Amino acid sequence: MKRFETFNDVIHPVEFEDFVSNYFEQKPFVIKRNQPDYYEPVLTITDIDRILRNNNLDSEGFELVKYSQQLNKSKFTCSDINTGKNVIDHKKLFGFFDEGFTINVDQFHRYHRPLNRLVDMTVRTFYGDSNAYLFYTPAGMQGLKPHWDQVDVFILQIEGSKEWRVYDSPMKLPRTTEGFDNMDKEPILTAVLEKGDMLYMPRGFVHEAKSGNDISVHITLSCSIKTYGDLFKSMVADIADEYFDQSLPVRFNVDSDDFRARIKDYVATLDINEVIGKFRKDFFDKKVLQSTGIFIQNSGLDTHVKLKKKLAGPYSVKCDNLQLTLACSTGASIVFPVFAKVCIEFILEAEVFSVNEIPSDLSEQKMLMICKKLIHEGILEVLHPDVISFY
Ligand SMILES: [Fe+2]
Repeated sequence: MKRFETFNDVIHPVEFEDFVSNYFEQKPFVIKRNQPDYYEPVLTITDIDRILRNNNLDSEGFELVKYSQQLNKSKFTCSDINTGKNVIDHKKLFGFFDEGFTINVDQFHRYHRPLNRLVDMTVRTFYGDSNAYLFYTPAGMQGLKPHWDQVDVFILQIEGSKEWRVYDSPMKLPRTTEGFDNMDKEPILTAVLEKGDMLYMPRGFVHEAKSGNDISVHITLSCSIKTYGDLFKSMVADIADEYFDQSLPVRFNVDSDDFRARIKDYVATLDINEVIGKFRKDFFDKKVLQSTGIFIQNSGLDTHVKLKKKLAGPYSVKCDNLQLTLACSTGASIVFPVFAKVCIEFILEAEVFSVNEIPSDLSEQKMLMICKKLIHEGILEVLHPDVISFY
């Protein structure tokens, strides 16, 4: 089974450009695949059972819900005798599941490497935050009342089936989530998602879903894009300007014309491209380059492991007698000793490679060091890291 290499695999057969032009933040749509094993490279019911039945499972992020009625966590957790941590009591968890409660787990990608990679891929594709929520629902049940979400979602049906009803958006692309008690409108979209199918919904579209005659498992892969407001806030967050450093008049007795003039003067001096570049770099540094998996990837690295570039170019290389500087599209620059030149140039040209394929006189140890540094900086990643669990 093919692994998920790009976000295109999530929305296949719709092309990404088609998705962005015609659906993204515009309207919901369904993909019926008639291919039950489609999401198996990402997650299977066997993976989920293995994770959920693990002993000492931290209860953080777990909820039990039935038509939005949420159980108090103390009813299905206990204290671990060794650590004192609040952990899942499996007998109680599955007891409530048998009574019709949906098991809902926030950030389920913490537990499963391929799902973690999918969330990471979503972050890198959209330049936004992402999360994978698990919904594990008993037969014929509905976990949540009709509501809208403040994030765009891709519903990936992993097991069983679920009937979805999507209603028009009462608010254009809201940034808050809300529930509804009375649904007197007709849905604009109804669909039964079978195993391997997908539903996309922009934020704000009201929806509800009920499982079929068997259990249903789906992953809600969310995507939250930054706003112009976020960009603006980042711009003013680190204002260090002679006009703005002055104390306000006593009792905030501010002259509005003076304040307006300060803002105008400040904005006039800004290099807007620099502001956007810094916002992009900060996002990459925090979200993309430091994404999970760096230590795991480095720890298993040997000369045969296949590597590929994680970060799209362009790159530029500057070299003098002392050092080589690799500048990345994020604005970051990484310094290497000059002897790394052949190795770096090969890596920038290569699609997929292993350390033992690099045409260099350097020792394997030095080449591994260079590749580990590039993994750490988020430039390279291991092509198919082993499936791992984080618990
Ligand atoms: Fe939702």
